[in-house]
Amino acid sequence: KPSDLFRPGRENSRGVNSADEGVLARLAETFAGAVELSWSATPLGTEAGTPMRETLNPASLSDVVGHYVESTPEAVNVALIAAAQAQPGWACRSPEERAAVLDRASVFLEERTPVLLGLIMREAGKTLTNAVAEIREAVDFLRYYAEQVRTGFSNDTHRPLGVVACISPWNFPLAIFMGQVSAALAAGNVVVAKPAEETPLIAAQAVAILVEAGAPEDAVRLLPGGGDVGARIVADHRVKGVMFTGSTEVARLIQRTLADRVNPDGSPVTLIAETGGQNAMIVDSSALAEQVVQDVLTSAFDSAGQRCSALRILCVQEDVADRVVEMLKGAMEELSVGRPDRFATDIGPVISADARDGINAHIERMRAKGCDVFQVALPASCADGFFVPPTLIEIGRVGDLKREVFGPVLHIRRYVREELDAVLAAIRETGYGLTFGLHTRIDGTIRHVTARTDAGNIYVNRNTVGAVVGSQPFGGHGLSGTGPKAGGPLYLVRLLAQAPSDFTA
Ligand code: NAD
Ligand code: ALA
Repeated sequence: KPSDLFRPGRENSRGVNSADEGVLARLAETFAGAVELSWSATPLGTEAGTPMRETLNPASLSDVVGHYVESTPEAVNVALIAAAQAQPGWACRSPEERAAVLDRASVFLEERTPVLLGLIMREAGKTLTNAVAEIREAVDFLRYYAEQVRTGFSNDTHRPLGVVACISPWNFPLAIFMGQVSAALAAGNVVVAKPAEETPLIAAQAVAILVEAGAPEDAVRLLPGGGDVGARIVADHRVKGVMFTGSTEVARLIQRTLADRVNPDGSPVTLIAETGGQNAMIVDSSALAEQVVQDVLTSAFDSAGQRCSALRILCVQEDVADRVVEMLKGAMEELSVGRPDRFATDIGPVISADARDGINAHIERMRAKGCDVFQVALPASCADGFFVPPTLIEIGRVGDLKREVFGPVLHIRRYVREELDAVLAAIRETGYGLTFGLHTRIDGTIRHVTARTDAGNIYVNRNTVGAVVGSQPFGGHGLSGTGPKAGGPLYLVRLLAQAPSDFTA
């Protein structure tokens, strides 16, 4: 049941239901209301007087969104003791009961959409459209995993892992957080959840909603903090599984830690890691240029390029490259970059000063190497936040890019027809395999190109972002992740210590 605030299928290009008059006015009101609310995230059992940290609105640094307490080693220990004690009770609940908790949480999320929109837009710097999509995706995860466990699980044959650590990024602070936690709970595990340090307040709301929906408080323990808190949790022998979404570099650190640990029965500690991408799109000379430009704009710059699925390298056939690039530059000039509390904003801020500086350093490095760089101008209203203008960089080789640049930067690689296979090989050689796009009107090219890509999610003649839970399970290969795909039929099985012997995909 979709939210009554925004009805899918009847939206204008900014995701707002234009038929529903007054939506924007109501939003402005609730947004203003959310600014007044006092948000916080504190691990249970924190002593009064423990110092609090602030989270700031990345679009407007004078806006303190709320406060959180960094989890101490003692708080981590207390949470793990409580979770381990809660585990048998939660695992004994029938699959139907566990599913009912997730279903109730999905309803609460929808009911609180207006106020959650305000929080997501402020703490994560998301535009209105992206914040709406964030809530919808979280609802979808809850209902999808509830349905899976209700229809396909039995406690006699499906044994959970135990205590599972969920470690999540800031770029989908509600959807990915809720997706991880709800999957672990659905399968009968209990959770210690370590959200990104940039977005603990959104995570705290997600946990509060799950508890209100009937999850025991100790079955879903929130541990705010940074990488050192995550590292401490991962190293703890009571943790039987780790669900991680974030950078490839941190996934490697976690994998190393887990390699040194085994469960008492000698089995390895389960790791699901969903990581970064170096996502490419091929555009051949038969492609419809207008459609290409619209899809590239969304793929590269939506969410200020801060999606693992975002397009990083546009490989465009030389015959049409000038036209496509010129049209793209024109379309980029039309994007509205700025603060998300102006609801017409298309592109919001990047998450932090470090993110902004790292992206700008990359742009300057490429400029210094002699690459052509095109950027749109930032409006004056961006001065109070962390903004990077949408940027195009022409490169000579795919291999010139060594790592994921997590922001609104699109690299263009022009190719002549004879080079297509070499370009596809270079894309494979990056080692990443998350999303891949293709624009062509030739059937044979679709077969040829898709047979030569390793990406987890391949999109033909459309944009490369916004995978829908259930119908487009999401996840990559190689440096992009371990699988199984989130929002797909194999995900919950990976969260079991024992699956039925006749289980088939
Ligand atoms: P990150 O790797 O810096 O942090 C992710 C989480 O790991 C955070 O909660 C962080 O505090 C924690 N962490 C950091 N160091 C740790 C350590 N040593 N041990 C345990 N935990 C630790 O990533 P980020 O900047 O938050 O997110 C952006 C990255 O996430 C990008 O690379 C993006 O591609 C990736 N991502 C991937 C997917 C996917 O589905 N494949 C989805 C979203 C984001
Ligand atoms: N699932 C997100 C997307 O597809 C990352 O954009």
